[in-house]
Order: sequence, then C-alpha cells, then structure tokens
Amino acid sequence: MSAHIPTETKLTYKFSNYFRKLISNNFYSLINNKNFPSILWLMVLFLLICLMIFVGGLTRLTDSGLSIVEWKPILGSIPPLSEKKWIIEFDKYKSTPEFLIQNFDISMYQFKIIYWWEWGHRQLGRIIGVVWLFGFLYLLFRKKIPKGWTKWFLFLGILGGIQGFLGWWMVSSGLEGTMIDVASYRLAIHLTVAFIILSVILWFILTLSNIDHVKNSNPKRRNKKLLILINIILLTLFLQIIFGALVAGIDAGKSYNDWPLMSGKWFPEDAFYSNSLAMSFFEEAGLVQFNHRVLGYAIFFLSLVIFYMTLKTKNTQIKNRAYQYLTIVFVQIFLGVITIIYSAPLHFSSAHQVCAILLVSLTLRLYFVIYYPNIIKKS
Ligand code: HEM
Repeated sequence: MSAHIPTETKLTYKFSNYFRKLISNNFYSLINNKNFPSILWLMVLFLLICLMIFVGGLTRLTDSGLSIVEWKPILGSIPPLSEKKWIIEFDKYKSTPEFLIQNFDISMYQFKIIYWWEWGHRQLGRIIGVVWLFGFLYLLFRKKIPKGWTKWFLFLGILGGIQGFLGWWMVSSGLEGTMIDVASYRLAIHLTVAFIILSVILWFILTLSNIDHVKNSNPKRRNKKLLILINIILLTLFLQIIFGALVAGIDAGKSYNDWPLMSGKWFPEDAFYSNSLAMSFFEEAGLVQFNHRVLGYAIFFLSLVIFYMTLKTKNTQIKNRAYQYLTIVFVQIFLGVITIIYSAPLHFSSAHQVCAILLVSLTLRLYFVIYYPNIIKKS
C-alpha cells in the first residue's frame, strides 16, 4: 500500500524538480558551449552594468551626483585619504551652485556620504572598463574570440567609453550657472545609453549561447505579426525609458500624487505653462508625468495583445517567455503607480528602475525566440 503524500509536498517536489532541471540543463549546456569564455566574460559585464544602473539610480536619488567637481578618469580612483584632502574636496564643492543655493548648511559628515556615492558610481565605471579591457585582451591573445566577433567586442568597448564621457557631460551640466541638478535631457541620454549597452550585451550572450541554432535559423519560419509587434514594443520601451528619466530628472514624480487622475483631473492643469509647446512636452512636470503614464498604459495593452498572440503558437519557448514578460509588465506598472502615490521615495523609485532592467531583458529574451523561431526546446 503506497503511503499518502500530502498535495503540498507533491507540488513542492514538482517545483523544486522543475527548477533543478532548469538550472542544471542550462548550466551544463553553458559550460559545454564552445564559446563559454566569451559568454562568461559578457555575463560578468552584464551583471556589472545592472549594478551600475542600480548604483547610478541611488546616486541620483540621494542627490549625490554633483559632489565630485572634477573628472579624473585614472587619478580619481584614489579617494581622499586624509582629513586635509577631504577639506580640499569639500572646498571645491562649496563653489558649486548646488552648495551655494541648496546645500549651504551641510556638514563634512554629510558631504562625505554624498561623495562616497558618486565616487562608488564612478569607481564601478572604472571596474567595468578594466573588466572589458583585460577580458578582451585575454580572449584575443588566447584566440578564444569566436570568428567574426572581434569587431563586436571592440564596439562594446567604444560604447563603454562614450558612456563614460556622457556621464561627465551630464555631471558638468549641474556645475554651471544656477543649476542645482543635472540637465534632465543629459540624464535621459546617459540612462538610455546604459540600457542600450545592457541590451547589446544581452543580445550577444543570447546569440553566442545558441550560435548553431542562429546559423541554421530559417527566416521564413518567423511569425511576421509577432515580430512587428515585438519591434514596436521594444521601441516603445526605449521611448518610455527616456520619458522615465525625464520624469526623474525634473522630480516630476513628486507632484500629482493621485492615480489614475492627476490632481483630480484626467489631464494635468499646468500642462502648457512654458512658452513653447515643444518645451512643455519635455520640461513641464505635469505633462512629462502624463506622457510617461500614457505610454505605460500603451505598453500594457500592446503586451496583452502580444501575449494573446503567443498563446496561439506551438512554440513552448515563446509561450514561456511571454508569460515571464507579461508578469514583469504588471509588476512594473504596479511599481510605477505606487511610486507616484508615495511621491517617489527612494526604495520604490529604485525598485521601479531595477524592474525596468528586468523588463528590457525579458523583452529581448522573447524577441530572440521570435526572431530565431527554430530553437524549440523546453526552458
Ligand atoms: C512599462 C512601463 C514603464 C517603464 C519601462 C518605466 C520606466 C521608468 C524608468 C526607466 C524611469 C527612470 C528611473 C530613474 O532614472 O531613476 C522611470 C521613472 C518613473 N516612472 Fe516609470 N516606467 C513605466 C511605467 C510607469 C507608470 C505606469 C508610472 C505611473 C503611473 C510610472 C511612474 C514613474 C515615476 C513617478 C518615475 C520617477 C521616479 C523618480 O523620481 O525616481 N512609470 N520609469
């Protein structure tokens, strides 16, 4: 007579078995992949970029970004090591508009906190540069770069260099005139380029991990409608990231803290205060927040459509990834709404930003199986 096993135990067993198989299958196929060294290097870079976006968000949310007034890519890696050096750094900060207008009463202790945030963000940038450089040279001299990929790995390095420069270009905008924050447009460009780098690395990882399938893929088998839709979603997502950064850059999330209305109206009252219509679109808090909300709803509906369409395909990989994608869309919209309701506090704002990383990553994973439809294996 077989012993009675409680339903919960059976379910737990099924779940743990599923995840064990999932992890071990993926792990073994990864380490057995002929491109493993390159994939590992790209994965490390990917994780570092995620961390960089996270730390960058916290640097902005703690208002720390303008605490270091010089750009010294190499020498700047050494922080002030004596009290005398700290006083020198603090004195330099005292000449910035942010200090003169807003932070005139901060103590050395408070200055050190904002300094460490900004220093940490820049230091992470240097670490990423070093990981890219040494990883690239190692793969090159050990002849481990897959055929035809040297130019793409170099391209990554160039993108990283451009991003470092854009970071300083953004910070420098907050050190002039009467600016007490960085220019929101520059913030938007810096954040968008970070997401572009992240996406390029992820695409490389996906391609190299499935290189044989990619080579044998038959473009005729692509579902054209799904492909068009996922392209639209990806573009809209990037537009949404730009608008999100504009919201964050002018602290527009701290106003209009009701939802779904905005101060009791469907359309913000002060939408067109600026002289120029175009300026209002990007600079007026109410309208910028309104645009971000509306685009969020558009993404939500487009996602429902794509999810419905994926249900009709026979490709289980597309279906699984569409489920994961839609779940994160829900979470992201939810986080956006509570960020508004609680007036953009640090934890919700940061969670909303991290979720954007997850969302872009899951969109690309879904894109990949729609673009290369012959990869039909269970995941
Ligand atoms: C799929 C949809 C969405 C995506 C991909 C997205 C993405 C982003 C991104 C990348 C930022 C910039 C974060 C930063 O630089 O710190 C942002 C900011 C923000 N988003 Fe969204 N968002 C979405 C939907 C929404 C929705 C529906 C709402 C509200 C109803 C919302 C409210 C906000 C607010 C208030 C901020 C500013 C937070 C701050 O000041 O730090 N978002 N969003």
